[in-house]
Amino acid sequence: MSQQDFGDLAGSAANMGAPTVDMGDTSQAGMGAGAGMSAGVSAGATGVVTSDASREAAVRAIGLVKDYGRGASLVHALRGIDISFEKGAFTAIMGPSGSGKSTLMHTLAGLDSVTRGTVLVGGRDITKLNDKQLTLMRRSTIGFIFQSFNLLPMFDAEQNILMPLTLAGRKPDRAWMDQLVSVLGLADRLHHRPSEMSGGQQQRVAIARALITRPDVVFADEPTGNLDSVSSSEVLTLMRRLVDETGQTIVMVTHDATAASYADRAVVLADGRIVADRSHPTAEEMSSLLTSIMENLAAQHTAEGNHRLAALAGSSAGQNGHGEHRASARHAWEA
Ligand SMILES: Nc1ncnc2c1ncn2[C@@H]1O[C@H](COP(=O)(O)OP(=O)(O)OP(=O)(O)O)[C@@H](O)[C@H]1O
Ligand SMILES: [Mg+2]
Repeated sequence: MSQQDFGDLAGSAANMGAPTVDMGDTSQAGMGAGAGMSAGVSAGATGVVTSDASREAAVRAIGLVKDYGRGASLVHALRGIDISFEKGAFTAIMGPSGSGKSTLMHTLAGLDSVTRGTVLVGGRDITKLNDKQLTLMRRSTIGFIFQSFNLLPMFDAEQNILMPLTLAGRKPDRAWMDQLVSVLGLADRLHHRPSEMSGGQQQRVAIARALITRPDVVFADEPTGNLDSVSSSEVLTLMRRLVDETGQTIVMVTHDATAASYADRAVVLADGRIVADRSHPTAEEMSSLLTSIMENLAAQHTAEGNHRLAALAGSSAGQNGHGEHRASARHAWEA
């Protein structure tokens, strides 16, 4: 993206809600996401693949499985995820606590290994990369906003924002830095350390840090979870405009149906699987969908509990009830 494209944003933090966005010719400007990546013949040593779907996708997961632990402590965090995130789209990931949202973000961003399956970032299979290659890929391609800000406590806000560039030995683009700082309202906090800032301010620093390298893809794990409603809608409007005006690709985890309504698409996880995928989500639609998923999960857990009790009591009645319930729960989720 050019500085000019984003200039309007910086100059008008107060107007961030204004729907006067000129998407014109700038909508894909500066998007390096895969544009310079060649498509090879197969997913060989270079990890480059050829399918059309992967070329259009900023990020794609195929048969993604992630288990944690082993034996009695084995957890199936992701049970086979197939999904594509289109370039220049804003996607919300929703789902109950423990459904695998953070695990999905971490594995897609190469922050965590996969148990099975493939993750393509800009057409490149990142599961084949070694640690050094992963680090370089992340630095140039991915911005990550963590659920817990993950700022470095001994550095001030400015140093934290510039950290990805410092680590890469790259010079900051001062104009871009100033624009981010202005849009995120951080000008008077630049020389404060994280412990001297509110949660909302720390999260805004983390957002600036994720954007400072102009990454191809931004993963945001509950970026507004610690913000008040005004800051939250400002940040969401900023992300929306980044997508509309510069073609930024954003994948955002949120519990908040209103936050999800800023996205082009909402994907819902439950128990490590995708259970819904909606275009142009509305807050009402997502809210009622999540409610029904939670109710089904609760009913399923009750049925499983009853089943275990029945099994302990040597009765076969619980088994039938359990099987019937699972089928109906699955039916209610899918649409
Ligand atoms: N490092 C880990 N070791 C073992 N289990 C883990 C680890 N990280 C996550 N899990 C488990 O994997 C499952 C998915 O966790 P994850 O953090 O992805 O959920 P989530 O949807 O992000 O939840 P939340 O909304 O609470 O943030 C959970 O059962 C969790 O306990
Ligand atoms: Mg999480």
